[in-house]
Amino acid sequence: MVGGAKNSALKLMAAALLATGRSEISQVPKITDILIMAEVLRRLGCDVTFTDGVISVDAPDKPGTEADYDLVRRLRASICVLGPLLARCGYVRVAHPGGDAIGSRGLDMHIAGLTRMGADIASEHGFVIASAPSGLHGATIWLDFPSVGATENLLMAAVLADGVTEIDNAAREPEIVDICQMLVGMGAHISGAGTSKLQIEGVPELHPVAHQTVGDRIVAGTWAFAAAMTRGSVTVRGVNPTFLEIALDKVISAGGEVMTEPNAFRVTMDRRPRAVDVSTLPYPGFATDLLPMAVGLASVSEGTSLITENIFDGRFMFINEMARLGADIRTDGHHAAVRGRDRLSSAPVRATDIRAGAGLVMAGLCADGVTEVSNVHHIDRGYPNFIDDLQGLGVAVERLVAPEEPSFDF
Ligand code: EPU
Repeated sequence: MVGGAKNSALKLMAAALLATGRSEISQVPKITDILIMAEVLRRLGCDVTFTDGVISVDAPDKPGTEADYDLVRRLRASICVLGPLLARCGYVRVAHPGGDAIGSRGLDMHIAGLTRMGADIASEHGFVIASAPSGLHGATIWLDFPSVGATENLLMAAVLADGVTEIDNAAREPEIVDICQMLVGMGAHISGAGTSKLQIEGVPELHPVAHQTVGDRIVAGTWAFAAAMTRGSVTVRGVNPTFLEIALDKVISAGGEVMTEPNAFRVTMDRRPRAVDVSTLPYPGFATDLLPMAVGLASVSEGTSLITENIFDGRFMFINEMARLGADIRTDGHHAAVRGRDRLSSAPVRATDIRAGAGLVMAGLCADGVTEVSNVHHIDRGYPNFIDDLQGLGVAVERLVAPEEPSFDF
C-alpha cells in the first residue's frame, strides 16, 4: 500500500498558507521532507500538527514572510512558499535553494512568471526577495519548459491575483491536478488542470479546506521496477495505474506481466528481463524520478538499453555507485548505454539522492552477496516504511543506523 505523494503533500502544505484558519491534509507520508516543511510553516507563524497521517495547518491572518537558509537548504521544495506568501502578504524573502545532487535547478521561470504578474524580484545575499506592494495582477505566462515547481508557485500566486492568469506550457503531473483540486476546494477558480494550459481567475480570499493527498506514483513505480528487476511479483495499492502508463509499459516491454485495477496494479516478471530503452520527459512521459530504477532494470536485462535523461543535468551521478555493483554502464552527456549482466555483485555503495538511494537498494537485491548502502537518510526523505515494506516482500534487509529524526516535535 503506498501512501500520499511527497511531491504533492509538500505543496498542499504550502497552499494552506493561502487562507487564514485550519486546513487539514490527509494521507501525508511521515518522511523527513514533510517534517522540514512543517517546520518551515511553523516559523511562518502557522500552528502545525501531524497525527495519523493528517497534517493540520492553522495559518495566521498575517503569516511571516521569511524562509531561512537553514531549512531551505535541507528542503529545496520550501521555495514553494514564494508564490502563496507573495500573493497573501505582498512581500517575501526566501533563501535561494541553490543546486543539489541531481542538477543545477534554476528558478528563472518562477521569477519571470511572478514578474509578469507585477512582482519586483531581486536576488540579494543568497535570498530571493519579491515584493508586490499593490498586489499581483493576472497575466499570460508562457513557460519555456513545463516546470513542476514554477507551475505550482505561479498557480498559488495567481489564485489571489487581480484578474485572469493563463499559464501556457504548464506542467501536467497528477500532483499539479491534486493541488488544483485543493485550491478549488478553498474557493479558487481554476480550469485546465492536467492540461498544458491553466486558466486562473483570481479571487479576493480563500477559505481553509480538508483535502486528501494523491497516491505516490513514484513510490509505486519503484516497486513495479523492483518486481521486474528481481523476477518477482508485487501488488501495489493506493495509486491510479494510469499515472504510470509509460513506466508500466516499459515493464511489459521488458517481459513483465502487468494487471491493473482502478487504484492498484500487480507486476510479475518470471523471466530474465529484456533490454528496453527509456527516455525521461515531463508527465505523461517517463518520470525522471524513476530513472535510477530503469537503470537498475537495464543492468540485469538481456541486451543493451539506452537510457536518456532529459530533465536534470546531474541525474547520472549515481552511475559510479552502480558500477561498484558490477553494472556495465557508459554515459555520454545525458545518455547512458547499459549492457545488461545476469547478476550484479555486492559492494558497499553510497546513496547520492532519494531516488538513487532506492535504486541502489533495488540493484542490491540483484547482486550476489550482501550490499551495504550508506547515506540512507536520502531514502528517508522519500520512502516511508521502506525497510518494513522490503521485509514484507521477503527481502533480508536491515537498517544499520538509526534514522536521523529532525529535532522538530509533533
Ligand atoms: N528549471 C529551470 N528553471 C526554473 C524551473 C526549473 O531551469 O525556473 C529546470 C530545472 O533545473 C530542471 C527542470 O527545469 O532541470 C525541471 O524542474 P522542475 O521545476 O520541473 O522540477 P522541481 O519542481 O524542481 C519536482 C520534484 C522532483 C521531480 C521534478 C520533475 C518536488 C519537490 N520535486 O522538482 O522530485 O524530479 O519535479 O518531475 O516536487 C524527487 O522527489 O526525488 C524529486 C527530485
